[in-house]
Amino acid sequence: MNYKKQTVCDVPVAGRRVLVRCDFNVPQDKKTGAITDDKRIRAAIPTLRYLLDRGACVVACSHLGKPKGAWNEALSLAPVAERLAALLGRAVIFCKDIVGAQAQEKAAALLPGQVLLLENLRFDKGEEKNDPDFAKALAALVGADGLYVSDAFGTVHRAHASTAGVAAYLPAVSGFLIQKELEIMGGALDAPKRPFVAVLGGAKVSDKIAVINNLLDKVDTLIIGGGMAYTFAYAQGGKIGTSLLEADKADYALQMIAKAKEKGVQLLLPTDTVAAKEFAADAAPVVVDAMAIPDDMMGLDIGPKTRAAFTAAVSGAGTIIWNGPMGVFEFPAFAVGTKAMAQALAESGAVTIIGGGDSAAAAEQLGFADKITHISTGGGASLELLEGKELPGVACLMDKA
Ligand code: 3PG
Repeated sequence: MNYKKQTVCDVPVAGRRVLVRCDFNVPQDKKTGAITDDKRIRAAIPTLRYLLDRGACVVACSHLGKPKGAWNEALSLAPVAERLAALLGRAVIFCKDIVGAQAQEKAAALLPGQVLLLENLRFDKGEEKNDPDFAKALAALVGADGLYVSDAFGTVHRAHASTAGVAAYLPAVSGFLIQKELEIMGGALDAPKRPFVAVLGGAKVSDKIAVINNLLDKVDTLIIGGGMAYTFAYAQGGKIGTSLLEADKADYALQMIAKAKEKGVQLLLPTDTVAAKEFAADAAPVVVDAMAIPDDMMGLDIGPKTRAAFTAAVSGAGTIIWNGPMGVFEFPAFAVGTKAMAQALAESGAVTIIGGGDSAAAAEQLGFADKITHISTGGGASLELLEGKELPGVACLMDKA
């Protein structure tokens, strides 16, 4: 897919009415509703500031949670409006409406440099259905000369009214966040600095099937750790005790081993494992052979020999993409493998990319986040990008000339 898309810098924005799709899907405290991590709001600031500083009239919008088309006070974007105002250092007009009379009135009254935040888009059934009438009504908020800016990388894999449908009615460009995600992740997939190494982990083979398949066409080395490695060991006749297993994916694992051979890709799987008798933070860790885990034990981390092999493989790389932890990093006794990989990435000198979700959380929790070239803001979106799938929220943007 074409990752070279026009951005806010390629079109006139001064005095223009602009609809900006952000990803303000932030975690909140269940009891108080307080925002517990505002990273996603911070990530939208450069684009919003660029537009506002140039006198654009900005109508910002986002989803929050999964209200399934019904109004739900607990998922209102009102707290986001407050935090956004504090981060932007200017007033944010909030509207408890999406495309109705109140929203239309407030959008029409916007002056250059002012920003309006609409209520949670998913309160309207039209959003997730990608209803053309809802998309048209969103576009109408910025008028016939308006512009659509997508900066919600976390939702580009969704074909919703605000992420894709609206681009049928307005010229569509990306903001700086999507531009960076596409340049770095798309760039790595299209023209990586070699050797290109992918490190995949996480619990399930089924979550990464398409990623493994797509990356085997592109990388020089593929490292597989984490829970899904046990299915690979099982498929090759290993004994894996009570470790995670997707027996129905064993054939697939064998096909991938064969594909790696055929493509000349070096495939590294664990040779030893840190196992325990139970899934618990205080369970006693024991190092065992990855192909001979005792019947009453489960693998919870990669072992020392595997750590050495995996870290050596990334040390000479030109580009490294990492998605999924090597073990149960939430338990300190089983975080050693994940930590070693995070450290190896940080010290590799390669272009290092972490694709959202658990591995991003691990790099942050273990203190290596600031030494990584790029940590994607999209979990599902970055996974689909690595799968080589067309992303509706990217495909709808205007191509670079
Ligand atoms: C995310 O949190 O990954 C994005 O905001 C997308 O949210 P969704 O999975 O509810 O579409």
